[in-house]
Amino acid sequence: MTTRHFLSDLDLSPEELTRVLNLADWMKANPYAIAPLQGPQTAAVFFDKTSTRTRISFAAGIAALGGSPLIISPGESQLGHKESIADTARVLDRQVSLIVWRTYEQAGLEEMAQFSSVPVINALSDDYHPCQLLADLQAVREKLGTLAGRSLAYLGDAANNMANSYLLAGANAGMDVRIAGPQGHLPSREVVRAAEERAAQTGGRVTITTDPAEALQGADAVATDTWVSMGQEDEKAQRMRLFGDYQISAGAMALAARHAVVLHCLPAYRGAEITAEVLDGEQSIIWDEAENRLHAQKALMAWLLVESGQADQTTERLVREAEAAGL
Ligand code: CP
Ligand code: NVA
Repeated sequence: MTTRHFLSDLDLSPEELTRVLNLADWMKANPYAIAPLQGPQTAAVFFDKTSTRTRISFAAGIAALGGSPLIISPGESQLGHKESIADTARVLDRQVSLIVWRTYEQAGLEEMAQFSSVPVINALSDDYHPCQLLADLQAVREKLGTLAGRSLAYLGDAANNMANSYLLAGANAGMDVRIAGPQGHLPSREVVRAAEERAAQTGGRVTITTDPAEALQGADAVATDTWVSMGQEDEKAQRMRLFGDYQISAGAMALAARHAVVLHCLPAYRGAEITAEVLDGEQSIIWDEAENRLHAQKALMAWLLVESGQADQTTERLVREAEAAGL
């Protein structure tokens, strides 16, 4: 059986995405029923960049799946600087059941997956943040009931990992994804093409624009992210000026649908990419979104282990029932 990894949003087919979201809903309602890591088996979680949500939700999630999380903070291992990624993978997969990694280059994750016989999960790279999107889509579906056909507007740094993941995951879910940012900070042609191809299969739509109003018009969900991603701190002053027209404010929300929900992966900078009024307002579903990191990642881990033939029979039966049924 081939080992399944989750390195980018498109590593799940549209049908698989629905199954994982169904499983996430079921596991949210039944938090300790599925325990593929019982033993306890160890899951290694590496961080080359700092984290609050990802670190806590993977630690809590691995424990709730019956396992033991091994958290490796930035600078604590030989990975990448004293030892190659391939050699690290060869050592790890003899001792752990899952590898979760937050890093810079997507190519590093791909190399890890190439040499690992256990599932590798992208916990954020410079290019994508696919675990965040599972949580976001779960939260939107909880509030709006459906994803396919719903419109999702993302404003701000449209060339960062969150913009790319909104584009790909939204297209995968059959959504009408509108991405707005200034010229020179829009998604790459490669990512847009991949999103368009997936949207053609799912009935989704992709719009890339420099006009925030075009993206916001009647949107069902409105999202943004920091204007200064990890690793870009030196460009802060310039970036704060550059994205000013793309702030999510009450004025911006007036263009969206009245029932629109507001998303932010956090950490947020009130007064920069989003006003405090909107972030802390009634349309914001950011705390549900943050909570869902736990449920969505638990579902993802259990699902990858089952799909890779690395889970016990009870887990496999429960996962198959829950993913087909949802709540
Ligand atoms: N949203 C998110 O990934 O947060 P952390 O950087 O705190 O993990
Ligand atoms: N774009 C942000 C997301 C943080 C969760 C970053 O990469 O820093």
